[in-house]
Amino acid sequence: MPARFSAPRGTFDVLPADSVRRAELYVAASQALTRAGYGRIETPVFEDTALFARGVGASTDIVQKEMFSFEDQGGRGLTLRPESTASICRAYVQHGMHKLPQPVKLWCWGPFFRHERPQAGRFRQFHQLDVETIGTDDPLADAESIILLDGILRGIGVPGVELRLGSLGSPASRAAYREELAAHLRSHENDLSADVRSRIDQNPLRAFDSDHAGTRETMASAPTMLDRLDSDDAEHFEAVKGLLDQAGVEYTLDGTLVRGLDYYTRTVFEFTSDRLGAQSALGGGGRYDGLVAELGGPETPAVGWAAGIERILLALGERAEEPTLDVFVAAADGQRERALAAVTELRGAGLRADLDLAGRSIKGQMKQADRTGASRAVVLGDDGSAKLRDMDSGEQREADLATILVELKESGG
Ligand code: HAM
Repeated sequence: MPARFSAPRGTFDVLPADSVRRAELYVAASQALTRAGYGRIETPVFEDTALFARGVGASTDIVQKEMFSFEDQGGRGLTLRPESTASICRAYVQHGMHKLPQPVKLWCWGPFFRHERPQAGRFRQFHQLDVETIGTDDPLADAESIILLDGILRGIGVPGVELRLGSLGSPASRAAYREELAAHLRSHENDLSADVRSRIDQNPLRAFDSDHAGTRETMASAPTMLDRLDSDDAEHFEAVKGLLDQAGVEYTLDGTLVRGLDYYTRTVFEFTSDRLGAQSALGGGGRYDGLVAELGGPETPAVGWAAGIERILLALGERAEEPTLDVFVAAADGQRERALAAVTELRGAGLRADLDLAGRSIKGQMKQADRTGASRAVVLGDDGSAKLRDMDSGEQREADLATILVELKESGG
């Protein structure tokens, strides 16, 4: 027997029953975003490795450990995209979108890849809904972006949603704060985990993410960035909070909210659900005022977020459900061609119609009709007769096939 294959570790197949909810989520998101003036962008699934090293940040876990990188036949370093923001900013610069009226509002939906340890809600290929508002530093844009994700999550009924909100300030105040934090860490060096100790200079903020007991204790007495915002950043943050208050969006302030990507400035946020286990983040994002310039474009402030599709579905509790048929057309042997013509006509009129493709007997076909959940069946007898059967009551009556089809089309399924 030849060896059988399974989908690679950390990946999964989306089977028809799972695809219904995903499609509903896609439709809800695309309607909400279209109504809010966002245009859909699609970027390649792989990009130059250097784009992510520069965009996401060389010291991040994503770039250091999690990228699926490879060399193509021409020796170019490529990487399966671990996130979307760097790609969208690359496209913004490449296509001169800074010349368009600002801000440019974009969204995308697709697969992303991170070589993480697989567990519930954490995959190596997962899907994100990503939203970016590029070309404005107005707090209104931060608030609009957060209100949109809040509305999408609530609109589809995700239970137990909470929002954490923080600000990382601007690069200058953050640099001063990092120094202060690094000094604090150094003065407690012996209490820290080896991982945090080795990154004191490179990325001291990541220490807030640690679950190591000694590190946590050290961080409890550390100053947070919220205590050290300069007056412009503090004013910006106050404005964002005020707009969320006005919109009735509840949040918890979190001065220790550290995102796993280096490009953030000012506002950062994360939505979680208590229905998820350890991987509780439904989505997150923030402002990234330096990224477009970092990628060779003009100084361009921007804000955005990404939400994990699988996490949202997990929190919703997936219903296994396939769409049911409106009509099943059963046919005796010599009548199969008429059956195909009939379902084609019904489908053309917008009905969900199907027929047997496996040579079943009429009895077998009626059983199949039952399984598909069809509310009605057309039965084409070998004498050329046609019957319309109500699958719930079992009532049926004979009529001309053309008349039955007209009736079905008029009833709309
Ligand atoms: P992120 O927090 O890295 O942000 O990812 C956003 C969301 O993607 C997470 O909250 C989670 O729901 C989902 N996610 C991430 N990794 C995995 C995984 N391995 N398996 C399943 N789901 C996962 C970003 O990616 C930023 N680009 C967001 C952003 C956009 N910031 C500004 N604009």
